[in-house]
Amino acid sequence: MLKIRIPASTANLGSGFDSLGIALNLYNYIEIEEAEGCFISSADGSEIPAGEDNLIYLSAKKVFEKAAVPFRGLKITEENNIPFARGLGSSSACIAGGVFGANEILGRPFSKDELLDIAAEIEGHPDNVSPALLGGFTANAADGKKVCFVKSEVSEKLVFAAFVPPFELKTADARAVMPKEVSVRDSVFNLSRSALITASFLSGKYENLKTGCEDKLHQPFRLPLIPGGEKIIEESYKKGSLAAYISGAGSTMMAIFDCGNEKAGEIAKEILSSADFNGWKYFILNADNSGAAAL
Ligand code: HSE
Repeated sequence: MLKIRIPASTANLGSGFDSLGIALNLYNYIEIEEAEGCFISSADGSEIPAGEDNLIYLSAKKVFEKAAVPFRGLKITEENNIPFARGLGSSSACIAGGVFGANEILGRPFSKDELLDIAAEIEGHPDNVSPALLGGFTANAADGKKVCFVKSEVSEKLVFAAFVPPFELKTADARAVMPKEVSVRDSVFNLSRSALITASFLSGKYENLKTGCEDKLHQPFRLPLIPGGEKIIEESYKKGSLAAYISGAGSTMMAIFDCGNEKAGEIAKEILSSADFNGWKYFILNADNSGAAAL
């Protein structure tokens, strides 16, 4: 039985819609082996699709197909620690886990770059599956069926405070509220900031992250779906955050700090102590620079 670990991820980073992402040290675990049929169970009691529509199963099957190897079935046991439908890459972790696991079972017919192409084709965009597979900060551009990317390690000094609300937000619903067309002015606003935040992560010029994560493409339309989200951004900046934004499609709000994990935890606790945030919880995380791995 093969056991693998897949990190959570925070996508978009504000301005880099469908392009940028960072892997985080919050992990799902999957045990996977070939079987005669579909056998899926949860190790943590969470409700999961147990049929052939299970995303790990589907993604693994795709790799067998691409490798032209007859597919008999799989036995999968999942331990899900990444909250579902909260903008922390839970679906992408399933896809990355499925393609990575199948590739290991088959003796690695595909490189990680090729696995990323397969995973991004399943997900539809690369910004979560890329860091989930590769770790670190990744900048991605999908060109047809090929993902061109750069991966860079993220400093352990950066702390990611993930503010997780008690409600889910489905990616499809969060995409549905976005405008179909945007002005050249707003496009320039975003492309300049996504270039800035990318260069600033790569060079360590973290004082640029606040401007770099500003966005006019998706956050203004999604924030009304996340009551309290705007206040998290405001409070985080008041308390010294380097960047605060909607993680992926939401509903989690992310704030990046450089004050150490303990202090960031105190800040997160203080922010959530307000009555506005009943039922919210927080994770204090750092980047994962390894990506999906066999244990
Ligand atoms: N880039 C995606 C979005 C991430 O914001 O819709 C969630 O899949």
